[in-house]
Amino acid sequence: MSNLIKVNNDNDVAIITIDNPPVNALGPGVAEGIWAAIDEINRDPAVKAAIVIGAGRTFVAGADIKEFGKMTSGGPRRSLLPLLLHIEDSAKPVVMAIHGQAFGGGLELAMAGHYRVASPAAQVGQPEVNLGIIPGAAGTQRLPRLIGVAKAVEMCAGGKPVSAREAAALGLIDRLIDGDLRAGAVAFAREVASKPAPRARERTEKLGTAAENAAILTSARAVASKKQRGLKAPLAAIDAVEAATKLPFEEGCQVEAKLFTECLFSDQSKALIHVFFGEREVAKIPDIPKETPVLPVNRAAVVGSGTMGGGIAMVFANAGIPVLLKDVDEAALDLGMSKIRKNYANSVQRGRFTQTFVDERLQLITPVLNYNAFSEVDMVVEAVFEGMTLKKTVFADLDRACRKGAILASNTSTLSIDEIASATSRPEAVIGTHFFSPANVMRLLEIVRGKKSSKEVIATCMQLSKKLGKIGVLVGNCRGFVGNRMFGPYRREAQFLVEEGAGVEAVDQALVEFGNAMGPLATGDLAGLDVGWRIRKEYRHLEKPGIRQPFAEDRLCEMGRYGQKTVRGWYCYDENRRPSPDPELPAMVRNWSAEAGIPQRKISAEEIVDRCIYALVNEGARILEEGYALRAVDIDIIYLNGYGFPAYRGGPMWHADTVGLQKVYERVCEFHQQHGELWAPAPLLKRLAETGKTFAEFDKEQLAAA
Ligand code: 3HC
Ligand code: NAI
Repeated sequence: MSNLIKVNNDNDVAIITIDNPPVNALGPGVAEGIWAAIDEINRDPAVKAAIVIGAGRTFVAGADIKEFGKMTSGGPRRSLLPLLLHIEDSAKPVVMAIHGQAFGGGLELAMAGHYRVASPAAQVGQPEVNLGIIPGAAGTQRLPRLIGVAKAVEMCAGGKPVSAREAAALGLIDRLIDGDLRAGAVAFAREVASKPAPRARERTEKLGTAAENAAILTSARAVASKKQRGLKAPLAAIDAVEAATKLPFEEGCQVEAKLFTECLFSDQSKALIHVFFGEREVAKIPDIPKETPVLPVNRAAVVGSGTMGGGIAMVFANAGIPVLLKDVDEAALDLGMSKIRKNYANSVQRGRFTQTFVDERLQLITPVLNYNAFSEVDMVVEAVFEGMTLKKTVFADLDRACRKGAILASNTSTLSIDEIASATSRPEAVIGTHFFSPANVMRLLEIVRGKKSSKEVIATCMQLSKKLGKIGVLVGNCRGFVGNRMFGPYRREAQFLVEEGAGVEAVDQALVEFGNAMGPLATGDLAGLDVGWRIRKEYRHLEKPGIRQPFAEDRLCEMGRYGQKTVRGWYCYDENRRPSPDPELPAMVRNWSAEAGIPQRKISAEEIVDRCIYALVNEGARILEEGYALRAVDIDIIYLNGYGFPAYRGGPMWHADTVGLQKVYERVCEFHQQHGELWAPAPLLKRLAETGKTFAEFDKEQLAAA
């Protein structure tokens, strides 16, 4: 018997324990061990029934995702199907006892048992679509038989887990067990030991009629095409569930297996698996070991109750951390608090939060006009106007007001953390926490390491990001840090393209079709074109003479067209902020381009995408080589969580690897020739392309060298 599976008997009930930390993934040895355990209980005359339970924090988090990479690179194909039939065919009833999560292959395993019991806090789900695949061990065939087609389609195509309570109401869980799950499951097994064991695969009563299913499947396909735009797996999952409604179980499994394999070998799945591991990788900082002590953050403060400060205060409150919110005067503070209240009210209206939850969160936010109570907080996030003099004044005030050991963080998006830190007597406590707008919604948190930021402060912020529901990525202190530094060339190219004759809508549409959540010009209108305009004016003295600079947005701003907030920018907006093309804009831009001597030409969607996306990649490669991002995957995670880059492309650096760095490099060289110095290829891109390597391999080499 595999040592990952243990069998003990509690009198007449066998307890089969899966012990494969950290999450009991069904990796090598586990299936074989369960198989042998089922044989053993059937051989043992003293055993009347069995339970299967997970050791540690969870039941089973699914198939071992690491194995998929091996399969797609030529390794043997492993299937759980024979094991699941073996369990279902057991002559003695098998009860699956679920705590933590039964996800993916974990839920498929559970459905092969004759009964399922669960702790009330457990969750079950088929999240495979988030990895670009579909359930591959009969999940699409057993689930509709147990809970009906509509909910099965929702779970397999949407990928969201359901609570054990909901699963019990659906008929997926036979009993919820408060208290000791193992004891409760053993008692349940004893109750059912003498009854005939029901097999999910033989049930048909919930499969519905052809007419009912046609309507469910059509609507599911429409939802998936809209909500998971560009992602192939949800549609494949719906096809597989449809097979369950039309074919006998074995044939349905064959359809599922074919679709599963197609998905597994797709670029989308490889990208999404890269994202799964990447999201966990970014938490690992080579020179800051896991054991680094972290500081408690039980009380926080935010300075500035504007767009960002208000959102950041909500983030702390949502995580249950009391927060002071400071502004300069009553009027600014009232405005800030009223926006917070409005935001929460909208969340209640949309069903995201209950009124009680919101009332409790609001209680945690205390508006203040001075620093008196700041001596009691563990961490401050400064979010005042973007200006070095003001930031330094605020940090000098914080240095006086806060106790020693408190973390002083800045939400600046462009200014140097080191210079801000120099205004204090404790630069080791100063760090950047760059939230994205809207702060209470966006998942990304760039954590900016100053030259003197201490390891404890960095480790604390990384850990805190998780508690705040964010994904923290550590970046270095350069202008724009990682995300915005790359966004500059991306948006620059979008403007250049318009100045060279591409339509505004054509530019945005090409990038939306690529998979981005929004086009670059519409994004500018949303954020406010004046933001970039002001920054460009401040940094104009740093621009090298003779290098082409985009001018269209500056001209729009000079006309007072700041985007959505002034109802005109690249687009015109109605009272509901719905955009429409501005019929006058093309002629206007043509005139500006004529004045600047920029010839007009027809520009393809392919060139639009290459110019914008490779501008991101080229700058990303520089950032990586200069060490402002720890790994290429860190850049990917930033772009997926802060900039609406499509997850199924894995992030800009992974996308470049997928296209092939040689090809990307050649295109960058072409643009270099056509458009000059701004397109000088990044040395790292050149080196990797010339040696036939990828950014992913660069990451591995860096890790090995660390
Ligand atoms: N395979 C391999 N490793 C896994 C894994 C899996 N299914 N699930 C989690 N892990 C690893 C993580 O990579 C992480 O490793 P690390 O410590 O080295 O970084 C470790 O387990 C702990 O995971 P988390 O940090 O995510 O821990 P949390 O407690 O925050 O979350 C969880 C636990 C909710 C189970 C979460 O890990 C999760 O959602 N896992 C993936 C679930 C999933 O997608 N299952 C489907 C797999 S595909 C499948 O089953 C196909 C089948 O149909 C045939
Ligand atoms: P904002 O203009 O909406 O709010 C700034 C607030 O700070 C105002 O309420 C102002 O009264 C207050 N303030 C000014 N001086 C103060 C002081 N001495 N003490 C207390 N409060 C003071 O600005 P916004 O957009 O919230 O930006 C804040 C910071 O966040 C800036 O550094 C900005 O660069 C950064 N940022 C902004 C993003 C955005 O999308 N708006 C995104 C990420 C970062």
